[in-house]
Amino acid sequence: MRMVDIIQKKRNGNELTDEEIRFFIKGYTEESIPDYQASALLMSIYFKGMTPQETATLTKAMVESGETIDLSAIDGVKVDKHSTGGVGDKVTFIVAPLVASVDVPVAKMSGRGLGHTGGTLDKLESIRGFNIAISKEEFVANVNNHKLSVAGQTGNLAPADKKLYALRDVTATVDSIPLIAGSIMSKKLASGADGIVLDVKTGTGAFMKTLKEAEALAKEMVSIGQNLGRNTVAVISDMNQPLGFEVGNANEVKEAVEVLQGKEVNDLRKLSLELGAHMAVFANVFATYDEAYAALEKNLENGKAFTAFRNMVEAQGGDVGMIDDLTKLPKASHHIEVKAHQDGYVAAIDAETIGVAAMHLGAGRATKEDKIDHSVGLSLKKKVGDAVRAGEPLVVIHSNDEDPEVSINKVYEAYEISDEKPDTLELIYKVID
Ligand code: URA
Repeated sequence: MRMVDIIQKKRNGNELTDEEIRFFIKGYTEESIPDYQASALLMSIYFKGMTPQETATLTKAMVESGETIDLSAIDGVKVDKHSTGGVGDKVTFIVAPLVASVDVPVAKMSGRGLGHTGGTLDKLESIRGFNIAISKEEFVANVNNHKLSVAGQTGNLAPADKKLYALRDVTATVDSIPLIAGSIMSKKLASGADGIVLDVKTGTGAFMKTLKEAEALAKEMVSIGQNLGRNTVAVISDMNQPLGFEVGNANEVKEAVEVLQGKEVNDLRKLSLELGAHMAVFANVFATYDEAYAALEKNLENGKAFTAFRNMVEAQGGDVGMIDDLTKLPKASHHIEVKAHQDGYVAAIDAETIGVAAMHLGAGRATKEDKIDHSVGLSLKKKVGDAVRAGEPLVVIHSNDEDPEVSINKVYEAYEISDEKPDTLELIYKVID
């Protein structure tokens, strides 16, 4: 088999066989296929697409390129949740303990942030002492004892995806639906969960800018999951503005804990209950979505979900004093109000630009080597649809730099103020199962 023939076949719009896809993934992982040929195939896939059969084979071949995690030592049905990436997305900190509180085991492997979206692990490390690098044995024991553990990814999961993702990043082939679907699902499948609940973001701050694209991606991922024997559902949710009010690290943990303590942050609460209810149904703990939703809502109100989060922090060496008294979380030295220049309504908040503003403060990484400053971030004082008067704060910037000029300018760039009240943004557009 020759790589040049595979490239030509795809370039001409024909369907590749399982053998051809496997030949490519194996050869590229083992470095017998060079970057220039892999790039040519990726670009052909970008333009010609892949059939569901091709995408499923690609995903499976990427899973098989490395190790897979065996979660069989954890009792019960394990269900994972994955977000395609958003700004202010601290839903994991709410949904994971929420689901654990109804006895669904949550063995969550998470990543660090790069670019304008934050990483779950970085945010958790705002809590002094919280150890994300626990051994596999501790991870399993924590889930068996407390139903919940969040740790850094260990092992060499889907190395083919790692190499291909880096190549896609520099060959303008990231935003291809079969390639994104294969990339995300290969990692989820290798992580060993029995069921997968996907939060597919759509809007200005998401990979998928339109609902149509998000729906196509969601369908593709659900079909891969189901084809490979895992219960999979996708919830398509809004990313036309950041989720909740806080963007950063410590301040995002604070907001999530406040929701666990009963604070009404509508979008965060609703999305967490929606995703959690699907997880609890997959885990066979409830027969129907409505039953699961009601039970989760109850555990948000009676404090059981908060206790599950606190137990996890304690089990992983974190300072629970910071959770009991949220003012003890890291705090920046300057708090700068970014004030509106005119009266009107907030018509839009570009989530990606807010994410970039946070990154410039030090809340995220521009390169893998950058160190995170957990104390900095932004608090949104106005969200889409809110009325605003000139001189009122749109955002408070928490910074360790006295004059974070770039971030202030980014906030003005992100906020669009109009004379007319805009239509209300939907939070959940569709559920694909
Ligand atoms: N996230 C991934 O893991 N892979 C993609 O291709 C896009 C987003």
